[in-house]
Amino acid sequence: MVPWGPVLGALLVAIVGYLCLLRLLRQRRPQEPPLDKGSVPWLGHAMAFRKNMFEFLKHMRAKHGDVFTVQLGGQYFTFVMDPLSFGPILKDAQRKLDFVEYAEKLVLKVFGYHSGPGDHRMIHSASTKHLMGDGLEDLNKSMLDSLSLVILGSMGQSPDARSWREDGLFDFCYNALFKAGYLSLFGYTKDKQQDLLQAEEIFVQFRKFDRLFPRFVYSLLGPREWLEVGRLQRLFHKTLSVKHNLEKDGISNWISYMLQFLREQGVAPAMQDKFNFMMLWASQGNTGPTSFWALLFLLKHPEAMQALREEAAQVLGEARLEAGKSFNLEVSALHRTPVLDSVMEETLRLGAAPTLLRVVKSDNVLKMASGEEYRLRAGDIVALFPYLSVHMDPEIHPEPTAFKYDRFLNPNGSRKMDFYKAGKKVHHYTMPWGSGVSICPGRFLALSEMKLFVLLMIMHFDLELVDPDTPVPPVDPHRWGFGTTQPSYDVRFRYRLRSPE
Ligand code: HEM
Ligand SMILES: *[C@@H]1O[C@H](CO)[C@@H](O)[C@H](O)[C@H]1NC(C)=O
Ligand SMILES: *[C@@H]1O[C@H](CO)[C@@H](O)[C@H](O)[C@H]1NC(C)=O
Repeated sequence: MVPWGPVLGALLVAIVGYLCLLRLLRQRRPQEPPLDKGSVPWLGHAMAFRKNMFEFLKHMRAKHGDVFTVQLGGQYFTFVMDPLSFGPILKDAQRKLDFVEYAEKLVLKVFGYHSGPGDHRMIHSASTKHLMGDGLEDLNKSMLDSLSLVILGSMGQSPDARSWREDGLFDFCYNALFKAGYLSLFGYTKDKQQDLLQAEEIFVQFRKFDRLFPRFVYSLLGPREWLEVGRLQRLFHKTLSVKHNLEKDGISNWISYMLQFLREQGVAPAMQDKFNFMMLWASQGNTGPTSFWALLFLLKHPEAMQALREEAAQVLGEARLEAGKSFNLEVSALHRTPVLDSVMEETLRLGAAPTLLRVVKSDNVLKMASGEEYRLRAGDIVALFPYLSVHMDPEIHPEPTAFKYDRFLNPNGSRKMDFYKAGKKVHHYTMPWGSGVSICPGRFLALSEMKLFVLLMIMHFDLELVDPDTPVPPVDPHRWGFGTTQPSYDVRFRYRLRSPE
């Protein structure tokens, strides 16, 4: 008997070793960007990158300039930091760069979802139909109802509704946006009080997953955390199971459309549950944290709060809320709020820090705005981190770390869209939603719900920080690159329903 096991094993080790060696021995070729493999074999700079991506990339840019290739866990990433050169990468007219391949691997790992060939296209067409333009009308309305239910539901009837309550601002915002968003998209049952309780429970579990998420993606969890993630995944698959859909009213057209597509493709129900989990994550992970930053900046900048309250009073009239009633607000008024639009855009500039990744399908040449040309190697990943290269560029946005509520307003009150670098107009002057083929298809709904939330909070509530001198907390450095940042610690605040005049 030949012991095939050990023989095959040895062969495998030899092949893997050889492939690793090839990667390790990688040399910079002519015309390629500066190559920085880091000092640790295979891992390269992974540790520094995961610890604080923003600081790491700042350091690399200072060392190598606007284009460089770094090794991170056996994979080579070419970062492009010059916003004037993003065009060819985002447009990718020659189709040499691919978004889907990397994304599919990630969602398989994180949500257990096996993507089908038509998924990406289908998600975007579902979103064009139901998350944009006229299709958004229904969701705008049900989002207002859900926000009412969530914010007032617990206090609307209670006799002490008009006395002060205290909470963590981050937790309060995330909780409210999550529950309202979840119920609007995934539907209600006949029993709304029960729905609220269930949404609260899902939020608690969602936050556990959310906290583990960055280190989970980077495969840095300890054995206990690993088990915990598995438990949470299964819990979400079960809670969001399509089996329960028949018992629900008002599942959004967006979700229904996508599930119908999957059914027609013959995707098994258990896989549809995983799809739902992925959509819950995509739709609820950023709106809460972004709303937190918006309210916090407003509380720290009275002149901004003042301007916004004036605009709200002008557009919507005096806020009136009768006891036991829900908020009534004319949703179409959201079209006429340039100050609020600027506040949100500025908040996203300071708070949203996604990475954009594209796999290089075949060797090709990247032409920079300066005229320089760099060779890109097949199998590498081209990466953009606009938070550093655009949002924080002092040439595009003077005093980039300061919150200026009117940064995106022209003197005549219209939306400001002209931003310059080196005398040239910058097309992508903020990129909170990503860009190109992977741009967030939920961005109009996201803006709509965040704007509604902020308006309701400032019109109907007195708000104050428990300690007015408390600084804006630093962001959690492990979350750079994962969408909206989160604070390292929460900020206490007080709120109470305003008395009718
Ligand atoms: C402040 C809120 C939000 C922010 C900052 C945000 C940001 C982003 C970004 C940066 C991406 C691209 C990721 C990439 O390139 O890999 C993305 C993708 C996505 N977002 Fe959002 N998003 C928000 C809210 C929403 C909402 C409310 C929905 C849905 C109702 C949504 C649905 C999606 C979906 C489905 C994708 C994946 C698209 C694809 O596969 O191409 N997002 N989001
Ligand atoms: C829904 O709200 C968004 C964001 O404010 C707005 O741009 C959009 O026009 C609204 N859509 C409809 C159909 O009311
Ligand atoms: C407002 O000002 C901007 C530039 O400052 C200009 O582009 C725009 O046309 C003006 N809009 C109106 C309505 O006057």
